[in-house]
Amino acid sequence: MSGFDLQAYLAERRALVDAALERALPSEHTPPPTIHRAMRYSVMAGGKRLRPILVIAGAEAVGGTAAMVLPTACALEMIHTYSLIHDDLPAMDDDDYRRGRLTSHKVFGDAVAILAGDALLTLAFRLVADNAGLVRDPRVIREAVAEIADAAGTLGMVGGQVVDIESEGKAIAAETLEYIHRHKTAALIRASLRVGALLAGGDAKAVAVAGEAGGELGLAFQIVDDILDVEGSLEELGKTAGSDERKQKATYPAIHGLEASRRQATMHAERAKERLAGFGPRSAPLCALADYVVERKN
Ligand code: IPE
Ligand code: IPE
Ligand code: MG
Ligand code: MG
Ligand code: MG
Repeated sequence: MSGFDLQAYLAERRALVDAALERALPSEHTPPPTIHRAMRYSVMAGGKRLRPILVIAGAEAVGGTAAMVLPTACALEMIHTYSLIHDDLPAMDDDDYRRGRLTSHKVFGDAVAILAGDALLTLAFRLVADNAGLVRDPRVIREAVAEIADAAGTLGMVGGQVVDIESEGKAIAAETLEYIHRHKTAALIRASLRVGALLAGGDAKAVAVAGEAGGELGLAFQIVDDILDVEGSLEELGKTAGSDERKQKATYPAIHGLEASRRQATMHAERAKERLAGFGPRSAPLCALADYVVERKN
């Protein structure tokens, strides 16, 4: 085991991300106040901040700093939060709790919840544009925009969400389930690591390695999310457990069983670590994060 202190690493970077999100979001008094209240309600409720931390860790893995990528780190968290607000809507997973509070639509109504998601997605791309002033070569911003758009759109998260919804109540093949998880969740996690490395000046090889590791880490992350939906509680998760069974979702435990799901999560996290070895000593935070993804309780 390395002596790497993951808890201290996460706490420091979470503080950076939270402060930057606070600055990036319009104040609650900015007209029209309702939408800005709703955006802040979901983003500032917390969450693990995994995606923005992965943007930073991706930058650090190629010798860069958090300061070079902070606006884009916030952008990934905003896109993620938008996906959660919409995922919880009655027309989708119909969930009442998120991040330890009532879901956005329960507090603000469906219309404002939908618009808060739209607004977060839009603001995210504004932040990536703002990142141009912090990188050595602003031409990488063009690539970062394309990368994030692909990961969030129909070839990524939205595509995965569509197949997730279409698979409710159906017996689907294991390959289709892997497609869902690689798209609805792993795509954004993969993009987080890739754009972190890209914006910090990583070469094509480094960006590719970051992406391969991110894809495996992201798949492990969603398999564990499925397991926690079976084994966790509202208190631990901040969201309602048992939601997948209620909606008859296609999940790893439903298709493979809990034991095999745990083994697969561990296997994908190990694959991520194998890829990360290419970064040498700078891979320590990311390797510790890969273990955390499997061991986490929320
Ligand atoms: C939940 O993501 C939705 C998934 C993609 C599994 P997180 O577990 O990262 O949620 P927060 O950001 O910590 O609330
Ligand atoms: C969510 O998957 C993936 C997203 C793109 C939001 P889930 O529907 O399993 O996420 P939770 O369990 O509600 O957080
Ligand atoms: Mg869902
Ligand atoms: Mg859900
Ligand atoms: Mg889930």
